[in-house]
Amino acid sequence: MEDSSCSRKRPWFLTFVGLLAMAALIAMPFLAGKPDGAKMPDWFRFVGHFHPVLLHLPIGVFLLIVCQELGAMFFRRGKTRDANLFPMFFGAASAIVAVVAGFLLFHGHGDDYSGNELAERHLWGGLIFAVAAVFTFIVKAWTVSTAGNPAWYRLLLFGSVGVMSFASHDGASLTHGSDYLTKYAPDPIRRILGLEPKQKPEEESALPADPVVYVDVVAPILERRCVSCHKPGKAKGKLRLDTFEMMVKGGTEGPAIEAGSSADSILVEYIELPEDDEFHMPPEGKPDIEENELAVLKWWIDSGADPVKKLSELAGADGVRDAIASLGNLKPAAAEEAKSTATAHSGPDDELKRVVSGLASEFPGAVGFESQESPLVTFTAMSLRGNLDDNGFAKISPLIPHLVSIDLSATKVTDRSVASLAPAKNLRMLRLAETGITDAAIETLAKLPALESVNFYGTAITDDGVMKLTAMPNLKRLYLWQTKVSPETIEKLKQELPACEIVTGT
Ligand code: HEC
Repeated sequence: MEDSSCSRKRPWFLTFVGLLAMAALIAMPFLAGKPDGAKMPDWFRFVGHFHPVLLHLPIGVFLLIVCQELGAMFFRRGKTRDANLFPMFFGAASAIVAVVAGFLLFHGHGDDYSGNELAERHLWGGLIFAVAAVFTFIVKAWTVSTAGNPAWYRLLLFGSVGVMSFASHDGASLTHGSDYLTKYAPDPIRRILGLEPKQKPEEESALPADPVVYVDVVAPILERRCVSCHKPGKAKGKLRLDTFEMMVKGGTEGPAIEAGSSADSILVEYIELPEDDEFHMPPEGKPDIEENELAVLKWWIDSGADPVKKLSELAGADGVRDAIASLGNLKPAAAEEAKSTATAHSGPDDELKRVVSGLASEFPGAVGFESQESPLVTFTAMSLRGNLDDNGFAKISPLIPHLVSIDLSATKVTDRSVASLAPAKNLRMLRLAETGITDAAIETLAKLPALESVNFYGTAITDDGVMKLTAMPNLKRLYLWQTKVSPETIEKLKQELPACEIVTGT
């Protein structure tokens, strides 16, 4: 087979370049070190954002090659092999480009991805795929030039595509969430995939076997039928029905309920007024309370209207079990309502829009609404960085109660700006990475009720400060990488805040 005229065409050069590319790919993560979004030039981030576009090139090319190769294996057995190297070259080259873009994306958004295991696995999956793609190309080049056995090349090709599928799946899970594909799968398919059957929401909201009557049964009925008009800020007849205390306190006519006697309770009296009565509750136009709901309310009041007792602890419980069971799906309202009161209104009001657009022209690209329907506002100092100080941030103070996320990373703000966040009751995400803030800032933060994610990367906060965060049960993510917080304290934090992911970069 081997002859000298052929050996000149051996792909030595391609092999050399390919091996260099493989070495460079493998070295890349080691040379780059820890992701650090703040220090990345915009140019890198710009390229990084093309990753989701570019990655489809190698996927498409490789699937095409696999189809061709399978065709050759099964239908053209023994016939000449495809000597065209170009598709494989294009596949490998586009894999390198996609992976480098992905790498820049990862590093350009350092604090979003560092410590995120899925992101890191996706990064490595992509890298290994690109390296395998280049190697497959080299082997293909040799197979063609020596007219050798294609088995090795094919093995590598299928292996690379396997790695590619794995990496793509991780990538998709990263952007869309891991249940994106299967979320709407019908039950038969869920069974094949070994997933839980659907209908979970109903099960979750089913009543506990022995419910706390006021909390689990009575309050949800009132929530559904009455609270929209009897709540803080909109207490018709000066009556609030959103808490037990306010119901007992009553409205202009006195206490709404008379424990032990539904017949003497104004609440029941108003409900039982004839439907055409002016004061019938709920008023005309609102869905009327149902018989079983009323039966449960009356029984609960007659049994003493206790706010904490369970069904089994109240007299005559057996008589209402059926009525309670027939109430169905009552639970969700309360918790969801509390969460979304801020977003419940239909979009932002005009005054807020005016303030936001005024500030948006002063800080271009930094201020905006969370979404079109949302009255909540985001602020990011991404384009300002070192140009933003406490005085600059003070200008957005009218927005603070409306802010849902704030990125102050790498700005010149200090504890003074953080102290101004006290009214930020909607704030969920706050980035203070690489700022001059100290433990004093944490006093303010620990009191923010909605705060879920805080980034302290590269700040001087210490053990003392960070332990104050244990008072925040809603905390889901805490970035403590490169702070003065000790490993022992991080362990303690993990115990005190089991639901919180603590990112330390180690
Ligand atoms: C659509 C709005 C609306 C809904 C829903 C509603 N109410 Fe009312 N409610 C009112 C208004 C308005 C008044 C004041 C009537 C008046 O005094 O002129 C009132 C007054 C009352 C009063 C008298 C308070 C007082 O001390 O003066 C009671 C009791 C009451 N509502 C109970 C209920 C109950 C129980 C429900 C649920 C089953 C309910 N309401 C649902 C609008 C509503």
